[in-house]
Amino acid sequence: MKLWGGRFEKTTDALVEDFHSSISFDQRLYKQDVQGSIAHARMLGQVGVISPAEADQIIQGLHGILEDIQSGKVEFEVGAEDIHMNIEKLLTERIGVVGKKVHTGRSRNDQVALDLRLFLRAEIDKTKDLMATLIRTLLDIAQEHKETWMPGYTHLQKAQPITFSHHVLAYTQMFLRDMGRFNDTRKRLNFSPLGSGAMAGTTFHLDRESVAKELGFDGVTLNSLDGVSDRDFALEFLGATSIAMMHLSRLCEELVLWSSGEFQFITMDDGYSTGSSIMPQKKNPDVAELVRGKTGRVYGDLIALLTVMKGLPLAYNKDMQEDKEQVFDAIDTIQKSLLVVEPMLRTMKVNREVMARGAKGGFTNATDLADYLAKKNVPFREAHEIVGRIVLYCTKKGCGLEDLKLEEFKEFSDVFSEDLFERIGIEYCVRERKLTGGPAPETVSRAIELSTQELEKLI
Ligand code: ARG
Repeated sequence: MKLWGGRFEKTTDALVEDFHSSISFDQRLYKQDVQGSIAHARMLGQVGVISPAEADQIIQGLHGILEDIQSGKVEFEVGAEDIHMNIEKLLTERIGVVGKKVHTGRSRNDQVALDLRLFLRAEIDKTKDLMATLIRTLLDIAQEHKETWMPGYTHLQKAQPITFSHHVLAYTQMFLRDMGRFNDTRKRLNFSPLGSGAMAGTTFHLDRESVAKELGFDGVTLNSLDGVSDRDFALEFLGATSIAMMHLSRLCEELVLWSSGEFQFITMDDGYSTGSSIMPQKKNPDVAELVRGKTGRVYGDLIALLTVMKGLPLAYNKDMQEDKEQVFDAIDTIQKSLLVVEPMLRTMKVNREVMARGAKGGFTNATDLADYLAKKNVPFREAHEIVGRIVLYCTKKGCGLEDLKLEEFKEFSDVFSEDLFERIGIEYCVRERKLTGGPAPETVSRAIELSTQELEKLI
């Protein structure tokens, strides 16, 4: 007999039984479901809807169920539909008729909203911990490579010289913002919907606030329709996770590029590379590629849930049962990705000399030569034109700017003098970029300090 079987004359079709049951995936919410039911039962006892002794019996029963689920002793039933009814059914089987009182003043609609909020809150905290570990590793790498010169790129063409430290710090900025987004999501999520009932609240004089307090919420939701039909918190999580995955994906794309034979900026540790079944020489950056690839499924999770929600009339609709698999998938994907990217970065070898060589070629100091002229009062646009012509000259000659003689420079402008050679040295070009946010080693040191402080605030 279904818990809702009273008004039915026939049993559910076997196909439907399987189709609408969510226990195969929502059993992941068992802990939060029990936790929520315990808080609800305690409150029912306190406000006198049930007796304190009945509340105690229910709470004891729920503790036993939790233990048994945790030790693998419980087999869930597809026929009992979802985690909420599975647990309620177990409770009644174990403690008898009192178990049938636990659902007083409550609906699965506010129950599932509660469970998902509790679950996501814990998973946000776990995700943040993993992300903090990744940020710390990036900061360590940045600390070590403040004088590892490398070419910076735009359009994947060499642009200006920077340091590896500076490049890595760009990613710490992204991940720090991701932490902020997770914190924002958590803040807005942290209100208890329990007491919204099916959609119109309840006539029982429940104490919503005490339940919210027991469950660590900052307060209660203020509209019963919204309380059961809001999934913004899940969407915000998926949004924040999508952005974070995009950052991981960009980082991994660079690792793939840098570990290629053409770049050779880094060497991946063997533990984080794989081979080919046919080509004996191969060492592939599969892990980085997979993180890049898995980003797509998280975007899919976000778009799927946005689409599920977009046409739903208020309040609860069964469509919303589709929220959980998306959320679970995104959680698993980002957590596994963070877990594997951190040691992959920590163990990779940075090939300083190759990077430094790369920083020198490709006219990465051309802007500095134009700036040199501009600092000697040549209007910048004219300086740009002059240096452009010098670059063309060098390209034809097959050399770099620093290989020309002073007389050759003078052919293009008589403003040039001997001091230009110092100004277009790669180290000089980087060291002089001291403006906040720039790549100069001393500026980067400060950025590492500030980022470390920022991280502490976000944890
Ligand atoms: N399994 C359902 C879900 O995940 C629980 C809520 C069901 N409510 C209902 N009225 N059918 O959304």
